[in-house]
Amino acid sequence: MKYISKKLTVEKISIQNVAKKFGTPAYCYSYTQLKKNINNFKKSFKSFSPLICFAVKSNTNISLIQEIKKFGLGADVVSIGELMIAIKAGVNPKKIVFSGVGKTSTELSYAIDKKILLINAESKSEVNEIDRIAKLKKKKVQIGIRLNPNTDAKTLTQISTGKKENKFGVNDKTFFEIVNYCKSSSNIELKCLSVHIGSQILDYKPYEKMLKVIDKIIKKINFKFEFIDLGGGMGISYNNDNNKLDYKKYNFAIKKFLKKHKSKIIFEPGRSIIANTGSLISKIIYIKKNGKKNFVILDAAMNDLMRPALYGAIHRTLPSIKKNNVLKKNYEFVGPICESTDKFTSLKNFQELKEKDIIVICDVGAYGMSLSSNYNVRPKPVELLIKGSKIKVIRKRQKHKDLI
Ligand SMILES: Cc1ncc(COP(=O)(O)O)c(C=O)c1O
Repeated sequence: MKYISKKLTVEKISIQNVAKKFGTPAYCYSYTQLKKNINNFKKSFKSFSPLICFAVKSNTNISLIQEIKKFGLGADVVSIGELMIAIKAGVNPKKIVFSGVGKTSTELSYAIDKKILLINAESKSEVNEIDRIAKLKKKKVQIGIRLNPNTDAKTLTQISTGKKENKFGVNDKTFFEIVNYCKSSSNIELKCLSVHIGSQILDYKPYEKMLKVIDKIIKKINFKFEFIDLGGGMGISYNNDNNKLDYKKYNFAIKKFLKKHKSKIIFEPGRSIIANTGSLISKIIYIKKNGKKNFVILDAAMNDLMRPALYGAIHRTLPSIKKNNVLKKNYEFVGPICESTDKFTSLKNFQELKEKDIIVICDVGAYGMSLSSNYNVRPKPVELLIKGSKIKVIRKRQKHKDLI
């Protein structure tokens, strides 16, 4: 996204035109950016050709998953609903991994019937349940065990998942017990060791540490895993300062690990594939001054984009038309919902705005629409995919009649 003749533009289309044609709030995604992200990811790790399973939780739009699939990616799912979407999008079940701490019997049974690549189990009870269902169905099921490597991902606490106090995975003692259990089961084939230490990780060192933990554990149990699933979590630059995960250093650490362990690497990236492809287009309903503060009340709210309210996340916020030689003001950008957390950001020295101006919240392709809700009986925004000068509606705007 860039300014062309002062108009903020996605591919060949100005945001102003998108807003006029499709209304606001609207999510819009750039196909070219998506392609660039996937190719860059593949290229960065090409020396060991990993299986890249897109984390569907980050964006569940079926049209986007269809596009992602065309680049040969698989899917990482965390619920039966996500699994159904991945299968409907045409993702090869042999490229689907199923993560999550609380998969129900119905979910496990469905995944077994669909013959997906791996169910990554996260507890002894889950492994027992998979075994029971597999026995009933007279099937052999390929599983992974998610290890909790007790590694600090050095990211926000709310999105840190690899420390021993987090609910995810199992500790090394339970890991060994499950490995032994699997050896004696005729319905379970243990194929994978999986980990996922958190999201929006900017430093490669936690990953390096995590690989050391995995190395130690494999040596200790002396078990050959066909797959090592390293999860996702690769951090991106939200404020355009280029502070993102250094793929080169991560790649180097993995290559070092692979010299000792000949396994196929699986990745589960979400944010790094889809976040910077998406923008949320919104219109200013009112501007009001309360004491010293200038509130810009947008027609997008926390139900449309939850990340700021949920994690204190900050997204770049831009005017759709850049104006020089106008007054600069301090603004607090908020939504119309009756919650004080319904706030996007506060910005200083922003160009003076008027009611009905169009504002763009950037890098919302991951955990944007997928975390949205109908709070306050607000219909969900339309989703648009832009490719060159073409715009495709990839999810219709909800109507009140869908909700009432
Ligand atoms: C198990 C698992 N894999 C992959 C991901 C994707 O993470 P990210 O979007 O940060 O790449 C998540 C996200 O939390 C996850 O829980």
